[in-house]
Amino acid sequence: MVVKGIRFALSFFFFALLLIFDTSAGHGGKIQARIPCKHLVFYFHDVIYNGANAKNATSAIVGAPAWGNMTILAGQSHFGDLVVFDDPITLDNNLHSTPVGRAQGFYIYDRKEIFTAWLGFSFVFNSTEHKGSINFAGADPLMNETRDVSVIGGTGDFFMARGVATLMTDAFEGEVYFRLRTDIKLYECW
Ligand SMILES: *[C@@H]1O[C@H](CO)[C@@H](O)[C@H](O)[C@H]1NC(C)=O
Ligand SMILES: *[C@@H]1O[C@H](CO)[C@@H](O)[C@H](O)[C@H]1NC(C)=O
Ligand SMILES: *[C@@H]1O[C@H](CO)[C@@H](O)[C@H](O)[C@H]1NC(C)=O
Ligand SMILES: *[C@@H]1O[C@H](CO)[C@@H](O)[C@H](O)[C@H]1NC(C)=O
Repeated sequence: MVVKGIRFALSFFFFALLLIFDTSAGHGGKIQARIPCKHLVFYFHDVIYNGANAKNATSAIVGAPAWGNMTILAGQSHFGDLVVFDDPITLDNNLHSTPVGRAQGFYIYDRKEIFTAWLGFSFVFNSTEHKGSINFAGADPLMNETRDVSVIGGTGDFFMARGVATLMTDAFEGEVYFRLRTDIKLYECW
């Protein structure tokens, strides 16, 4: 009777142990991996050259399809236009706030049927809070309220950074000015 009881208790103990290991292996790791280790929000401001604002412009069309030109974004959803930018980054949505860094890179409009672009750029920081850079790449379907692009790396304070940045068009003024809210979630921090 006693032996049977001990045997039962032992097998119950091992069964419970198995369950604990099974659940931790199955879900524990995954859930933890999806909690960002760093969360940052910035705005950047793009003033596109339009033939009359050379002094203010922070971006310029540097490539256009044969049916377009480098002053005005082309028809057919700007397909084929390549724009290079050096935009101020601010902590709030005010273009005139003191910049904390520059967003530098390019976008290429890459569909005729709908406004969509491919983005490749860096946030370059040189402020008292942040030094270093964060590198971004990915598809930007502009018509979507929010778009996710990859954080593919970083330097300095953001050494080896990896994660996802959610972009949202915070303002859009007649093809000359737009402002993007950038919500950066890093899942790898050093
Ligand atoms: C250029 O920027 C200045 C200062 O922000 C502003 O007063 C002016 O209206 C801008 N000009 C154009 C053409 O955007
Ligand atoms: C550029 O193309 C636009 C039409 O897309 C046209 O209105 C404008 O006059 C062109 N500008 C130049 C300098 O060719
Ligand atoms: C960063 O800021 C410091 C101090 O203002 C300056 O000496 C340095 O040249 C800047 N570096 C870059 C890459 O802009
Ligand atoms: C478009 O936005 C929706 C929510 O607003 C989001 O679920 C979806 O992933 C977005 N699509 C892309 C391609 O970013």
